[in-house]
Amino acid sequence: KVLILDFGSQYAQLIARRVRENHVYSEIVSHLITAEQIKKIKPKGIILSGGPASVYSKNAPGCDEEIMKLGVPVLGICYGMQLGCMMLGSKVSPSAAREYGRTLCAISGENRFLKTLPQEITVWMSHGDIVTELPAEFESLAHTKNCPYTAVKHKNRDFYGVQFHPEVTHTPNGSQIIRNFLYEICHCSGNWKMDSFIEKSVNDINRQVGNGRVVCGLSGGVDSAVTAALIHKAIGNRLSCIFVDNGLLRNFEAEEVVKTFKENFSADLHVVRAQDRFLGKLKGVSDPEKKRKIIGHEFIKVFKNEAQKISDVQFLAQGTLYPDVIESIPAHGGPTVTIKSHHNVGGLPEELGFELVEPLRFLFKDEVRKIGEELGLPKELVGRHPFPGPGLAIRIIGEISGQRLEVLRKADKIVIEEICKAGLYNKIAQCFAVLLPLSTVGVMGDERSYENVIAVRAVETTDFMTADWYRIPNETLGSISHRIINEVKGVNRVVYDISTKPPSTIEWE
Ligand code: XMP
Repeated sequence: KVLILDFGSQYAQLIARRVRENHVYSEIVSHLITAEQIKKIKPKGIILSGGPASVYSKNAPGCDEEIMKLGVPVLGICYGMQLGCMMLGSKVSPSAAREYGRTLCAISGENRFLKTLPQEITVWMSHGDIVTELPAEFESLAHTKNCPYTAVKHKNRDFYGVQFHPEVTHTPNGSQIIRNFLYEICHCSGNWKMDSFIEKSVNDINRQVGNGRVVCGLSGGVDSAVTAALIHKAIGNRLSCIFVDNGLLRNFEAEEVVKTFKENFSADLHVVRAQDRFLGKLKGVSDPEKKRKIIGHEFIKVFKNEAQKISDVQFLAQGTLYPDVIESIPAHGGPTVTIKSHHNVGGLPEELGFELVEPLRFLFKDEVRKIGEELGLPKELVGRHPFPGPGLAIRIIGEISGQRLEVLRKADKIVIEEICKAGLYNKIAQCFAVLLPLSTVGVMGDERSYENVIAVRAVETTDFMTADWYRIPNETLGSISHRIINEVKGVNRVVYDISTKPPSTIEWE
């Protein structure tokens, strides 16, 4: 395993991904971790991430200097390089010319770290400081126009540093550089694969749960399905699943969830039909945050009520993913790891008093999909777009009613059908219809009509933190619009959302 010490970098997650993509397991930890703690973890390598601070400023985050003496190879990236170099006697100062963006970098000499790279590469820079003086124990491996020491190596210790960001795709040879560090310098074996994850996870679940019983909420999405599948593999029918139909799901979604479950699991499934309860509580509510709160509270009540009917439950399974976990690692002090509760079911663990089982808490979404495939879950389930916990409630702008839900369900179904027909579903990260609280004028026969507007949203993104609108071909947009207006009663206008996130968000509420 390789440890990534986080100094507050926006790219720490990306470093972890690049390492894992090269079949080496990686974990992000706070920069406050001590050399003693690291010794116990026995990593094959350590990466010091970038960060927004200046190493010479007063409150700059540092790390235990003993880390450099552990005999474990260390790679410093940007801030990490400056910090490592400074600890080993170099001088860091503001650079005369700041470098942001693509920069040409010349590589000098031959070494294992920059093996197989051309003599000149394009790298992604983002810094205001640079290493300005390098002691004799260091060797300079590369430079750019404004940065004399762009890549360095210590002659007596296994310390390497790069001023640029090899983890971003704008550094085309970046993955090779990370691979060189992992294999040439750290001598990793490269056996981190999904099947080894499954085996380890099953053992961990068995160890945690013992002979206990686990309850797991199913949502119809990938994360909860893979969580249930892993736990099912580990403890078989000591798993009980609860699926709450809150009346805010898409066309026939509840039926499909139940069918898929029955086809793939032999575990106990409790389906709670609570549509009326949810819709009753949402009556007259149009504020989005209020809708979310009501749905969250109601879900906890319904879930708790059902869970109490199952005897001897001690554990609650949740599909928390790694981004949720690391978002809460404080980079500048504080406790080492605090875990953010899953925002869909926030408060549920405290309410139930069960111990949490979170087998996906070290995985990224695409890794969860791979695990799902390995576990034999159907492709359609594993590749599903995310769907928010509050469901269609936040895609009907304004007040919700049974009739408006029906309009949105029909329109949404057409959007998805046409996207699938055009072969675009797997290229788009998320797409859906939104029902607006407007009536616009139209002509139906010889008369004017005032009817609803449907907005279509489709985005591409990998992390859902930023997103671009997807360029759906005009013909497909045309058939979506044509079908919705002709087939969905009450809609006479369709618009396409062409906003990026930020400043817009993916959902409309
Ligand atoms: P936004 O709209 O914030 O969405 O750009 C980013 C991702 O999060 C989903 N989303 C939610 N998921 N409960 C959820 O479980 C919510 O309240 C919620 N709001 C947004 C959204 O669908 C997208 O995938």
